[in-house]
Amino acid sequence: APRSPFANEPLTDFSVAASRNAMSAALDQVRKELGRTYPIVIDNKPQPVGAVLARENPSRKSEVLGKVAMATAEQANRAVASCLAAFDGWRDTPLAERTGLLRRLAEQFRKRRFELSAWIVLETGKPWRESDADVAEAIDFCEYYAIEMEKLGAPQARDVPGEDNRYFYEPRGVAVVIAPWNFPLAILAGMATAALVAGNTVVLKPAEQSGIIGAKLMECLQAAGAPPGVVNFLPGDGDVIGPPLVQHPDVALIAFTGSLKVALLINEQASKTPGGQNFVKKVIAEMGGKNAVIVDSDADLDEAVKGVVDSAFGYGGQKCSAGSRAIVLDGIYDQFLNRLVEATKSLAVKAADDPGCSLGPVIDAEARDRILKFIEAGKRESRLAHQTDLGALAEQGYFVPPTIFADVPETAGVAQEEIFGPVLSVIRAKDLDDALRIANGTKYALTGGCYSRSPSHLEKVKRKFRVGNLYINRKCTGALVDRQPFGGFKLSGIGSKAGGPDYLLQFVLPRTITENQ
Ligand code: NAD
Ligand code: ALA
Repeated sequence: APRSPFANEPLTDFSVAASRNAMSAALDQVRKELGRTYPIVIDNKPQPVGAVLARENPSRKSEVLGKVAMATAEQANRAVASCLAAFDGWRDTPLAERTGLLRRLAEQFRKRRFELSAWIVLETGKPWRESDADVAEAIDFCEYYAIEMEKLGAPQARDVPGEDNRYFYEPRGVAVVIAPWNFPLAILAGMATAALVAGNTVVLKPAEQSGIIGAKLMECLQAAGAPPGVVNFLPGDGDVIGPPLVQHPDVALIAFTGSLKVALLINEQASKTPGGQNFVKKVIAEMGGKNAVIVDSDADLDEAVKGVVDSAFGYGGQKCSAGSRAIVLDGIYDQFLNRLVEATKSLAVKAADDPGCSLGPVIDAEARDRILKFIEAGKRESRLAHQTDLGALAEQGYFVPPTIFADVPETAGVAQEEIFGPVLSVIRAKDLDDALRIANGTKYALTGGCYSRSPSHLEKVKRKFRVGNLYINRKCTGALVDRQPFGGFKLSGIGSKAGGPDYLLQFVLPRTITENQ
């Protein structure tokens, strides 16, 4: 039976001086550890380091954080071979030991909470509070998937007189976990722990932009007692090691979170069945969004303005869940826009290690340049309503000005493409039906929101706004494990829900054994 009911890990309250001091001390401590090289780990052994990727702080590009080894295709093959060799043993390890690994991992995260948050702040430019939430979510995934596996792990009896039937789940085999950088600990740990607790062995592939945090996760997994080969740490360039991993005939499962483009490529490559592969690969893919928040004409504007600002500019809009479109009904459009602009002006754009930062840099130069191109296109397609002046920050790090476009045509590029930066498109709608039509009018279906005080309007929104996670009268980001299982459909994802009751089913194969008595 499941050991305990699930409860979300509390977030750190940085208004308490002791928490602020602990975080400052962790940042100081982490800064003493800068410059290290993080190797590939296969069979729990660090591998000789060849090519490396230097990691820099996006808030202060002059600050080098360390170097992360970049795997070759040959090392990718060795990582898979090691996972394959470890698979039978891990599959047959008692469930209590597999759930024990997750619970010990959660303890590691708790023990190293501020340190891990500090690394997230420095490597990915995430503000304190959101970095802390990343670690809390990683803890949640460990605790939640352990409990869910305890529910799933007990064989189900379907006996009739003279015949015993057992229905049970087995792991699929070697899983490749490929993660993005924007929830550098939570998403990597979430996909990996789901695969592991179900009994799969894992090649852990972090994003290039968050390789150090990937290495910290591997340290925690080893400290939690992951046996050799059960998890192999394989940082590297997705273009180089992605295809050999995805196409490898011994890889049974790919758990991917990232961009639509890469997801479709993986799906296509994994659909081929090379000689020597005697199963069909399973792909779990979670992709992007172009999420909308509808603001109804009777919305509480205080709430709506705050919710839209948080949804659009939290972590600089670098969330798949970000609300990058505000669809505002004609009757309150001008009033809402004025207040939105004023609220956006008050955001504290700063280096992420500054405790007063509410909006930090974007992840790297490539992202900055891509977002700036969208902003230039937006200026041609619509009306620039606000752009924050960055001052010296533009030179110091990879900062992009929080930008609001108004009167955006619903088909404009800034209203259709995932920008993944602090850019909000405000679109005028004639009425609620028009707003819903616009809201549903993209290729994505991940999150959405609506601010309204009209019960009949909200009923209609619940029926007609077709997204994976719909939020009423609150921001459209920040899903909590168990309370808001997270994931989308259309081109936002295959329909799985991380942190939800069906998630583990994708990592297992059901079997039936019938015994004639
Ligand atoms: P990305 O697709 O560029 O990279 C994701 C991962 O894929 C990285 O580890 C990368 O190295 C790897 N990769 C790149 N090319 C590959 C290839 N050919 N084969 C295999 N792997 C390859 O995405 P990103 O920039 O890291 O993350 C941002 C994207 O992730 C956004 O689109 C965002 O919406 C999405 N995202 C989705 C969710 C969700 O739950 N739906 C959550 C977070 C981020
Ligand atoms: N799960 C993350 C959120 O809800 C992406 O914002």
